[in-house]
Amino acid sequence: MTNIRTELCDLLEIEHPIIQGGMGPYKTESLAIAVANSGCLGVISSIGMAATLLPDAAPIDAERLFGSDPPRALLQKSIEGVARETRRSDAVFGVNVPVASEFVLASKMFVDQVIESRESDSDIERRLRVLITSAGNPTPWAEVKRHGLTWIHVVPSVYHAKKAEKAGADIIVASGHEGGAHISWDPVHSSVLVPAVVRAVETPVVAAGGFCDGASLAAALCYGACGVQMGTRFIATKESDFEPMWKEMIVKSEERKTLAGRGLFGPMRFLRNRRSERIVEQTLEDAPRFYLGEPVESNEKILELERSGFEDLLDQKEETALMFAGECTGRISDIPSVSHLVEGIVEEAVVTLKRMHSLVR
Ligand SMILES: Cc1cc2nc3c(=O)[nH]c(=O)nc-3n(C[C@H](O)[C@H](O)[C@H](O)COP(=O)(O)O)c2cc1C
Repeated sequence: MTNIRTELCDLLEIEHPIIQGGMGPYKTESLAIAVANSGCLGVISSIGMAATLLPDAAPIDAERLFGSDPPRALLQKSIEGVARETRRSDAVFGVNVPVASEFVLASKMFVDQVIESRESDSDIERRLRVLITSAGNPTPWAEVKRHGLTWIHVVPSVYHAKKAEKAGADIIVASGHEGGAHISWDPVHSSVLVPAVVRAVETPVVAAGGFCDGASLAAALCYGACGVQMGTRFIATKESDFEPMWKEMIVKSEERKTLAGRGLFGPMRFLRNRRSERIVEQTLEDAPRFYLGEPVESNEKILELERSGFEDLLDQKEETALMFAGECTGRISDIPSVSHLVEGIVEEAVVTLKRMHSLVR
């Protein structure tokens, strides 16, 4: 099979220029294993694991999802699990740690655990090579590089990309407004954001938000990115840890079937159903006060809507379950195995790029 090799492949020592985005509330352990074994960067997601720290303010019933292990032990077990199941392919993997200010104590704890796991096991040290921070200020996290990690930071704007570059990030993920779950309020989509970030920084840029197939991987490379980070597309795969109902909804939903509204740590993009419509109604109710810069006392109402939405997810209630996805849900029509998906994406990107090349006379 003809391959595509970019700077991202060289920097991370992966075969294909594709990163699996961190995706809470699940640990994305099985997905990370399948993605890493397919030659891309598999990523463990930590955000849901922190819910056990906030029993009164967490949107998910962490015990129902993860059992009673404390957060650091959960992450350690996931790291060991992914390392074990990817040993044969000698694959590289990473951990995503959101660093929103509301979350910062948990972020520190998870970053410390990543460092400790690497220091205590030479195989993990060699293969758990990447830390992806997101949703917050990059500056305090630069020290992870001193521990031998490649540091990737996710940004929604040129301004934030310059800040991440100044902080010393090795790679910047530019994430457009069409992406699933965490987004910015500013509706700047990938077709504008990615080339703008590529021009503004010298650091290698990875494109996120709306990338789901070979044509969009080729487009990202044409924008000057060195690869893509995909979330929504990877949810709808056989190995992903997500509820079957969530996968089916992604297959069923066309591109208009997402909504952006208020989440617990900033805005989020949801699959459209009665739950997300209710969240958007609440967001609009609070909007005048946001707009005037007045404090909205608490996000109790959003918390309650999310909490019951997660319960309905686990109870398989399609109309009232809380589910996130990006607009590319409209371009997803199957639930393949990860290896089949990756092969197809690379093949299509190769064909697309060759066709582009043939247009040049
Ligand atoms: C269900 C879901 C959960 C997500 N959770 C996280 C998260 O915990 N941390 C993070 O950095 N990004 C998170 N994201 C964003 C993804 O990592 C990725 O950047 C995004 O999905 C890319 O856009 P796409 O969905 O169009 O592929 C999440 C996305 C989805 C769909």
